[in-house]
Amino acid sequence: MKIFLDSADIKEVKEAASWGAIDGVTTNPSLVAKENTDFFELLKEICETVDGPISMETTSLDAEGMVNEGRTFVKLHPNIIVKCPLTKEGLKATRALSSENIRVNVTLCFSANQALLAAKAGAYFISPFVGRLDDLGTEGMQLIQDIRQIYDNYQFETEILVASVRHPLHVLEAARIGADIVTIPFKVLDALVKHPLTDRGLDQFMKDWDKLPDSIKRPPSIDARS
Ligand code: G3P
Repeated sequence: MKIFLDSADIKEVKEAASWGAIDGVTTNPSLVAKENTDFFELLKEICETVDGPISMETTSLDAEGMVNEGRTFVKLHPNIIVKCPLTKEGLKATRALSSENIRVNVTLCFSANQALLAAKAGAYFISPFVGRLDDLGTEGMQLIQDIRQIYDNYQFETEILVASVRHPLHVLEAARIGADIVTIPFKVLDALVKHPLTDRGLDQFMKDWDKLPDSIKRPPSIDARS
């Protein structure tokens, strides 16, 4: 399963990239707005930091506007994926852009029927928002299972990009279901690394090692090896 970072914070992107942990980045207007900086400059810097799919969201509400934005976005960098919302206009834009070989990440997906329409429109990625469904008391991960079954039934090539991830269990369940990608905020990526037994074990290794005299821990001197 591929892991994308769901962030427009270049510091988070650079840190996550330094771990070798991420295969791409997703952004959206809310995440970009938080950075309050030049949109195209920011996305270009993200593209130059992570060599993978970088999702950049349109802000038009009509298909023509989305198509024009998408054509402009992809000139920024070959790794740009155009994000369009799962609306009628978004499906029209997806159909048009995909017919021009421009890859579209269809976002704000909340039902399997929506995901079916997105695949038929030629979506490259589908982004079901599991956390927001959980927030309503419905099972977000059930949507991922349903989409996985439907896409497999009909050999749709659209990749399932699990979004609105709130915690490590979402990541684990997405991998078990066979989602293609999860996009996760930095705080969740950070939580994936941590385990108290790792910290406790490392602490004990260091304590045991520190008990040894330095004389038996030093590497042999160069001449002793010659
Ligand atoms: O990529 C979509 C994601 O950013 C939405 O997450 O937490 O706002 O539901 P959230």
